[in-house]
Amino acid sequence: MDPYRVWLSEVMLQQTTVAAVTPRFERFVTKWPTVEALAAADDADVFAEWAGLGYYARARNLLACARKVAARGGFPASAADLRGLPGIGPYTASAIAAIAFGEAAPAIDTNIRRVIARLHALERPSDAEIEALLGNMIPAGRAGDFIQALMDLGATICRARAPRCDHCPLRTDCQAFATGQPEAFPAPKIK
Ligand code: ADE
Repeated sequence: MDPYRVWLSEVMLQQTTVAAVTPRFERFVTKWPTVEALAAADDADVFAEWAGLGYYARARNLLACARKVAARGGFPASAADLRGLPGIGPYTASAIAAIAFGEAAPAIDTNIRRVIARLHALERPSDAEIEALLGNMIPAGRAGDFIQALMDLGATICRARAPRCDHCPLRTDCQAFATGQPEAFPAPKIK
């Protein structure tokens, strides 16, 4: 998949829902279809197009990242090299590496964390535990599709509240479902 589109969607989705992002994403890529086009854009045009998508700092990072990537001739293809570009933290780096480049990089967002915690009925899994369990599940050659499918499962079926277990393809393997209290996993964070 086109790393530019994956990167842009991940940055937009860092704070906004898929439903809200979709029309804004389409407008954005119509205006700037490649990272080179975005790198050459006027700052003010990009900030205006970003309005309503959240922090200004994110749009500034977006442009800084586009310019670095265009200058080096394209996106780096590994999570390790993506990490550290402006606005790209560990999660976003792994998501781009998996979805755009097929790297078996465990990208753990809140949706995926919940799906894995429920599959194994874990109340308080550590990040390392989730990462190890997810790493074992990623099928060879299908990392991107698999990560995306888990994200979508978490967002639409394995929801935090009122999970729709009757529609879930993983129900028969799910230890949280077996307890009859799937919502109890993972346990709510104690403040
Ligand atoms: N939120 C962040 N990244 C996402 C993705 N790739 N699909 C759906 N929701 C997301």
